[in-house]
Amino acid sequence: GAPWYLDCDTGIDDALTLGLLVAEGADLKGIGSVSGNLSAAGGARNTLDLMALMGRPDVPVAVGAHDPLDDVFHGVADFVHGANGIGGVELPHVGEPVAESAAEMLVRLAHEHPGALRVLAIGPLTNLALALRLDPDLPSLVADVVIMGGAAQVPGNVSAVAEANIWNDPIAAQAVFDAAWPVTMVGLDVTMLARFEETHRVDLASSGASGAALAAMLGVYFEYYTPVLGRPSCALHDPLAAAIALGTVVPTSAPVVPIEVDTTGGPGHGQTLVDLRSRFIGYPPQPGLRHRVVLEVPEGFGDALLEALSRLP
Ligand code: BDR
Ligand code: CA
Repeated sequence: GAPWYLDCDTGIDDALTLGLLVAEGADLKGIGSVSGNLSAAGGARNTLDLMALMGRPDVPVAVGAHDPLDDVFHGVADFVHGANGIGGVELPHVGEPVAESAAEMLVRLAHEHPGALRVLAIGPLTNLALALRLDPDLPSLVADVVIMGGAAQVPGNVSAVAEANIWNDPIAAQAVFDAAWPVTMVGLDVTMLARFEETHRVDLASSGASGAALAAMLGVYFEYYTPVLGRPSCALHDPLAAAIALGTVVPTSAPVVPIEVDTTGGPGHGQTLVDLRSRFIGYPPQPGLRHRVVLEVPEGFGDALLEALSRLP
């Protein structure tokens, strides 16, 4: 299969995503961490510990950017993911991060696998933007970029219009959309509708050791989402983006459109401006576009995710 670089802020739904990628046998060449749900250092620790638990201690993990471009780390989202990012679950500490930074790792892997590297980014986009600064040729070396982030036609989750991963570093997100690589944006339009229900969590708890640990983490995540969604359940943001990247979920609507980010510092700061005018009669599609936004996916992703995670050791 294709070589993969994953960039994440591990986080409870990031943890589920590691599980999905491992269960599906993705050829992970390296994982970079970035500050978002928690610090980049804390995210790398969680990633190492989870990968060891899931039987993949061999995958190199690099610590990425602590601060967003032109800003400082906004602090741990402990009300969503718990103080340690993984719902208070304590895992044995296994291994150490590699010496290179996440941005350096991404650039190196792109050169080692020219034209083939798949990039999946499920946290703020700081490392990808730094990698673009390190090597302006990066877009021609990467096969594609799939991101979890933004909101095209629905409200945000940190402000009226901004989704967390974009809001945490809008300048980096704009750089990623400006670069000449194809980006698939998987935003709140579809991720808020992809759910784990209480039955999924209970079934996961009685699968292997990895599944049990992930189910334990979901306690905190469910606490946050239950009042938001109106019943014991959670949204599956990052895992859905991974499934779309893997091809196990095929979007039923994903138009190619212009995407920009509001970096003005005003009330729209961090909003993704997804230009859907070509979907309306009278507006011709614009030539030269590279990015697609996922607007609809089939139902039933929670069941598919449970099935995959239940196969973990
Ligand atoms: C995104 O923000 C983080 O809290 C999640 O891990 C996900 O990547 C959802 O807005
Ligand atoms: Ca994330």
